[in-house]
Amino acid sequence: MKTENIIMEDLIKKAAKDIAGSNKVIALTGAGVSVESGIPPFRGEGGLWEKIDPMEFAHIDAFLRDPAKVWNILIREMKDIVDKARPNDAHKGLSKLEKLGILNVIITQNVDGLHQMAGNSDVIEFHGNFAWQKCLDCGKKIETFKISLNEIPPKCSCGGILRPDCVFFGEMIPPEHLMRSRKVSYECDIMLVIGTSALVQPAAYMPVIAKESGAIVIEINPESTPLTGSISNYLIRGNAGKIIKEIVAEVERLMQSIKNV
Ligand code: OAD
Repeated sequence: MKTENIIMEDLIKKAAKDIAGSNKVIALTGAGVSVESGIPPFRGEGGLWEKIDPMEFAHIDAFLRDPAKVWNILIREMKDIVDKARPNDAHKGLSKLEKLGILNVIITQNVDGLHQMAGNSDVIEFHGNFAWQKCLDCGKKIETFKISLNEIPPKCSCGGILRPDCVFFGEMIPPEHLMRSRKVSYECDIMLVIGTSALVQPAAYMPVIAKESGAIVIEINPESTPLTGSISNYLIRGNAGKIIKEIVAEVERLMQSIKNV
């Protein structure tokens, strides 16, 4: 345990040094970054896909076949959880890194809007955003907090059924988000890969692009992933909130000591 702690402290210092020496840092985040905000992940213990079958509730065909069922079992609960969630130390730390002029862009697979709430200004929402609903008929967008759940599925003023503006299984990634994510992944020199199982494509391919373009890929996750030991240069094992807070404190210390020289 002691050895692990020493290694973790060393890795935090190493990551801070790598990050402080770069101005092209980007982050790829997944559900793990919001776990400490009370939003459960999809996979693993306590994960959403342990409770419900994604093909039955999160596939676009399942939604079109029976929107009321998907609204009742999945979307209604998601709305409750997302409404209550607030940014944690991981979101706040990434926002601080942007303010320090270090972090340029976040590519997130999350639809909870917590990076923006924490203050990050350039967030690519790879899987869309739960803050908006879209009418299946006229395409009009309505903010999720404005819709009434008295009628399920909720409807637009034109009578069309509303769906979250998120990517369901079986749907394409919005092309502009995919293009820009690929571009920033090519251009970065550090990619922080935080709280993602890296099992879902094409999001999981972004670290591969970064690595093949010469970037350092740093994973922050309590578990290893398919990227660990091959694509990522190193994994800092643990919860994102604590680790990012410590990295940011160390980056600030390094920046201050450079100023003082
Ligand atoms: P997953 O649920 O697949 O993985 C969450 C990851 O977060 C795991 O690797 C955990 O080990 C890690 N984790 C858990 N707690 C953490 C913490 N406190 N700090 C840091 N890491 C932690 O979530 P994603 O990789 O985001 O897509 O899943 C990708 C996509 O699969 C989602 O966007 C969603 C899902 O199906 C769609 O719905 C289209």
